[in-house]
Amino acid sequence: MTLTYYGHSCFSVNIGGNILLFDPFITYNELANTLVDVDALAADYILISHGHADHIADCVRIASRTGAKVIANWEIHEWLNKQGVTNTHPMNTGGKWNFGPFTVKCVVAQHSSGLPDGSYGGNPMGFIVTSEAGNFYYSGDTALTLDMQLVPKWAKLNFAVLPIGDNFTMDVADALTCAQLINCQNVVGVHYDTFGFIKIDHEHAKKTFAAAGINLALPAITGSVSF
Ligand code: NI
Ligand code: MN
Repeated sequence: MTLTYYGHSCFSVNIGGNILLFDPFITYNELANTLVDVDALAADYILISHGHADHIADCVRIASRTGAKVIANWEIHEWLNKQGVTNTHPMNTGGKWNFGPFTVKCVVAQHSSGLPDGSYGGNPMGFIVTSEAGNFYYSGDTALTLDMQLVPKWAKLNFAVLPIGDNFTMDVADALTCAQLINCQNVVGVHYDTFGFIKIDHEHAKKTFAAAGINLALPAITGSVSF
Protein backbone atom coordinates (compact mmCIF):
# COMPACT_ATOMS: atom_id res chain seq x y z
CA MET A 1 0.00 0.00 0.00
CA THR A 2 1.25 3.46 -0.90
CA LEU A 3 0.02 6.58 0.89
CA THR A 4 0.34 9.97 -0.82
CA TYR A 5 -0.12 13.10 1.29
CA TYR A 6 -1.99 16.16 -0.02
CA GLY A 7 -1.80 18.38 3.06
CA HIS A 8 -3.88 18.76 6.25
CA SER A 9 -5.81 15.46 6.60
CA CYS A 10 -6.08 14.75 2.88
CA PHE A 11 -4.26 11.68 1.59
CA SER A 12 -4.80 8.81 -0.76
CA VAL A 13 -3.97 5.15 -0.33
CA ASN A 14 -3.43 2.96 -3.38
CA ILE A 15 -4.65 -0.57 -2.67
CA GLY A 16 -3.86 -2.78 -5.64
CA GLY A 17 -4.68 -0.02 -8.12
CA ASN A 18 -7.79 1.21 -6.29
CA ILE A 19 -7.29 4.78 -5.10
CA LEU A 20 -8.95 5.69 -1.82
CA LEU A 21 -8.90 9.47 -1.24
CA PHE A 22 -9.56 10.72 2.29
CA ASP A 23 -10.92 14.09 3.48
CA PRO A 24 -10.19 16.25 0.41
CA PHE A 25 -9.28 19.82 1.40
CA ILE A 26 -7.04 21.47 -1.18
CA THR A 27 -8.68 24.63 -2.55
CA TYR A 28 -8.67 26.52 0.74
CA ASN A 29 -5.42 25.06 2.08
CA GLU A 30 -2.72 27.65 1.38
CA LEU A 31 0.00 25.08 2.06
CA ALA A 32 -1.37 22.70 -0.59
CA ASN A 33 -3.27 24.60 -3.26
CA THR A 34 -0.18 25.64 -5.22
CA LEU A 35 1.29 22.13 -5.05
CA VAL A 36 -1.75 19.96 -5.73
CA ASP A 37 -4.06 20.28 -8.76
CA VAL A 38 -7.44 19.46 -7.29
CA ASP A 39 -8.80 18.87 -10.80
CA ALA A 40 -6.16 16.24 -11.52
CA LEU A 41 -6.46 14.23 -8.28
CA ALA A 42 -7.39 10.62 -8.93
CA ALA A 43 -9.97 8.82 -6.82
CA ASP A 44 -11.98 5.62 -7.12
CA TYR A 45 -13.40 6.04 -3.61
CA ILE A 46 -13.59 9.13 -1.39
CA LEU A 47 -13.89 8.59 2.36
CA ILE A 48 -15.14 11.48 4.50
CA SER A 49 -14.49 11.23 8.25
CA HIS A 50 -16.82 14.09 9.26
CA GLY A 51 -18.57 17.19 7.98
CA HIS A 52 -16.12 19.97 8.79
CA ALA A 53 -15.00 22.08 5.83
CA ASP A 54 -11.35 21.16 6.32
CA HIS A 55 -12.33 17.54 5.49
CA ILE A 56 -15.05 17.88 2.87
CA ALA A 57 -14.46 21.18 1.02
CA ASP A 58 -13.37 19.59 -2.27
CA CYS A 59 -15.49 16.44 -2.08
CA VAL A 60 -18.28 17.52 -4.44
CA ARG A 61 -15.79 18.89 -6.98
CA ILE A 62 -13.66 15.74 -7.06
CA ALA A 63 -16.57 13.30 -6.86
CA SER A 64 -18.39 15.08 -9.70
CA ARG A 65 -15.35 14.86 -11.98
CA THR A 66 -14.16 11.36 -11.12
CA GLY A 67 -17.44 9.62 -10.36
CA ALA A 68 -15.74 8.15 -7.29
CA LYS A 69 -17.96 6.44 -4.74
CA VAL A 70 -18.16 8.53 -1.57
CA ILE A 71 -18.20 6.66 1.73
CA ALA A 72 -19.47 8.70 4.68
CA ASN A 73 -21.99 8.67 7.50
CA TRP A 74 -25.74 8.77 6.78
CA GLU A 75 -26.15 12.51 7.23
CA ILE A 76 -23.20 13.41 4.98
CA HIS A 77 -24.47 10.89 2.39
CA GLU A 78 -27.85 12.68 2.34
CA TRP A 79 -26.18 16.11 2.16
CA LEU A 80 -23.99 15.00 -0.78
CA ASN A 81 -27.04 13.62 -2.59
CA LYS A 82 -28.59 17.11 -2.32
CA GLN A 83 -25.41 18.57 -3.88
CA GLY A 84 -25.86 16.20 -6.84
CA VAL A 85 -23.33 13.57 -5.75
CA THR A 86 -25.33 10.37 -5.94
CA ASN A 87 -22.66 7.64 -6.05
CA THR A 88 -22.50 7.41 -2.26
CA HIS A 89 -22.43 4.64 0.30
CA PRO A 90 -23.90 5.54 3.70
CA MET A 91 -22.44 4.00 6.83
CA ASN A 92 -22.40 4.71 10.53
CA THR A 93 -20.28 4.07 13.59
CA GLY A 94 -19.77 0.37 14.31
CA GLY A 95 -20.69 -0.82 10.85
CA LYS A 96 -18.53 -2.43 8.20
CA TRP A 97 -18.91 -3.10 4.48
CA ASN A 98 -16.95 -5.11 1.96
CA PHE A 99 -16.38 -2.97 -1.14
CA GLY A 100 -14.62 -5.79 -3.00
CA PRO A 101 -10.95 -4.79 -3.01
CA PHE A 102 -11.17 -3.71 0.65
CA THR A 103 -13.45 -3.62 3.69
CA VAL A 104 -14.21 -0.49 5.73
CA LYS A 105 -15.19 -0.58 9.39
CA CYS A 106 -16.39 2.69 10.92
CA VAL A 107 -15.21 3.39 14.45
CA VAL A 108 -15.71 6.03 17.13
CA ALA A 109 -14.06 9.44 16.87
CA GLN A 110 -14.47 11.93 19.71
CA HIS A 111 -15.07 15.17 17.84
CA SER A 112 -17.99 17.06 16.20
CA SER A 113 -19.27 17.07 12.62
CA GLY A 114 -21.39 20.04 11.46
CA LEU A 115 -21.44 20.58 7.68
CA PRO A 116 -20.14 23.83 6.07
CA ASP A 117 -23.66 25.23 5.46
CA GLY A 118 -24.74 24.56 9.04
CA SER A 119 -26.52 21.27 8.27
CA TYR A 120 -26.31 18.54 10.88
CA GLY A 121 -23.38 16.30 9.94
CA GLY A 122 -24.05 13.23 12.08
CA ASN A 123 -21.31 11.67 14.16
CA PRO A 124 -17.62 11.93 13.29
CA MET A 125 -15.96 8.60 12.48
CA GLY A 126 -12.64 6.87 12.07
CA PHE A 127 -12.07 4.11 9.50
CA ILE A 128 -10.31 0.75 9.66
CA VAL A 129 -9.54 -0.38 6.13
CA THR A 130 -8.61 -4.03 5.64
CA SER A 131 -7.51 -5.71 2.43
CA GLU A 132 -5.30 -8.48 1.07
CA ALA A 133 -2.57 -5.84 0.65
CA GLY A 134 -2.69 -4.89 4.33
CA ASN A 135 -4.62 -2.95 6.94
CA PHE A 136 -4.67 0.61 8.24
CA TYR A 137 -6.59 2.89 10.58
CA TYR A 138 -7.41 6.54 9.95
CA SER A 139 -8.74 7.98 13.18
CA GLY A 140 -10.24 11.15 11.67
CA ASP A 141 -10.26 14.22 13.90
CA THR A 142 -10.46 12.87 17.43
CA ALA A 143 -9.37 13.11 21.00
CA LEU A 144 -7.45 10.22 22.48
CA THR A 145 -10.14 7.80 23.62
CA LEU A 146 -10.16 4.38 25.26
CA ASP A 147 -12.35 3.18 22.37
CA MET A 148 -9.06 2.92 20.45
CA GLN A 149 -8.18 -0.13 22.56
CA LEU A 150 -10.73 -2.04 20.47
CA VAL A 151 -8.95 -1.42 17.17
CA PRO A 152 -6.53 -4.40 17.49
CA LYS A 153 -9.54 -6.71 17.96
CA TRP A 154 -10.58 -5.86 14.41
CA ALA A 155 -7.29 -5.54 12.54
CA LYS A 156 -3.56 -6.05 12.75
CA LEU A 157 -2.40 -2.70 11.41
CA ASN A 158 0.40 -2.00 8.94
CA PHE A 159 0.06 1.71 9.61
CA ALA A 160 -2.19 4.37 11.15
CA VAL A 161 -2.97 7.94 10.11
CA LEU A 162 -3.44 10.13 13.17
CA PRO A 163 -3.90 13.85 13.82
CA ILE A 164 -1.03 15.38 15.82
CA GLY A 165 -1.73 19.14 15.66
CA ASP A 166 -3.38 19.64 19.07
CA ASN A 167 -6.02 22.35 19.74
CA PHE A 168 -8.78 20.58 17.71
CA THR A 169 -7.50 17.00 18.06
CA MET A 170 -4.87 14.82 19.71
CA ASP A 171 -1.41 16.31 20.14
CA VAL A 172 1.82 14.40 19.51
CA ALA A 173 1.89 12.80 22.97
CA ASP A 174 -1.72 11.63 22.71
CA ALA A 175 -1.14 10.30 19.18
CA LEU A 176 1.78 8.28 20.54
CA THR A 177 -0.45 6.83 23.27
CA CYS A 178 -3.01 6.04 20.55
CA ALA A 179 -0.34 4.19 18.53
CA GLN A 180 0.39 2.10 21.63
CA LEU A 181 -3.31 1.40 22.27
CA ILE A 182 -3.86 0.28 18.69
CA ASN A 183 -0.60 -1.71 18.65
CA CYS A 184 0.78 -0.02 15.54
CA GLN A 185 4.46 0.60 14.74
CA ASN A 186 3.99 3.02 11.83
CA VAL A 187 2.16 6.33 12.12
CA VAL A 188 1.59 9.03 9.52
CA GLY A 189 0.93 12.38 11.19
CA VAL A 190 -1.78 14.67 9.77
CA HIS A 191 -3.86 17.72 10.77
CA TYR A 192 -0.90 19.94 11.66
CA ASP A 193 0.66 23.24 10.44
CA THR A 194 -2.32 24.21 8.22
CA PHE A 195 -3.59 26.94 10.56
CA GLY A 196 -1.94 28.99 13.29
CA PHE A 197 -3.67 26.97 16.00
CA ILE A 198 -2.08 23.70 14.92
CA LYS A 199 1.51 24.55 14.02
CA ILE A 200 3.89 22.00 15.53
CA ASP A 201 7.60 21.40 16.06
CA HIS A 202 8.42 18.57 13.63
CA GLU A 203 11.68 17.58 15.30
CA HIS A 204 10.03 17.36 18.71
CA ALA A 205 7.28 15.18 17.21
CA LYS A 206 9.76 12.80 15.56
CA LYS A 207 11.90 12.56 18.71
CA THR A 208 8.86 11.83 20.88
CA PHE A 209 7.88 8.90 18.68
CA ALA A 210 11.44 7.66 18.17
CA ALA A 211 12.00 7.55 21.93
CA ALA A 212 9.07 5.12 22.17
CA GLY A 213 10.32 3.00 19.25
CA ILE A 214 7.45 3.93 16.92
CA ASN A 215 7.98 5.35 13.44
CA LEU A 216 6.40 8.73 12.69
CA ALA A 217 6.26 9.74 9.03
CA LEU A 218 5.57 13.37 8.14
CA PRO A 219 5.58 13.20 4.34
CA ALA A 220 5.90 16.42 2.35
CA ILE A 221 2.77 17.52 0.48
CA THR A 222 2.63 15.31 -2.65
CA GLY A 223 5.14 12.98 -0.95
CA SER A 224 4.50 9.25 -0.64
CA VAL A 225 5.20 6.52 1.91
CA SER A 226 4.87 2.79 1.23
CA PHE A 227 3.90 0.16 3.80
NI1 NI B 1 -12.99 18.57 12.44
MN1 MN C 1 -10.32 19.11 11.08
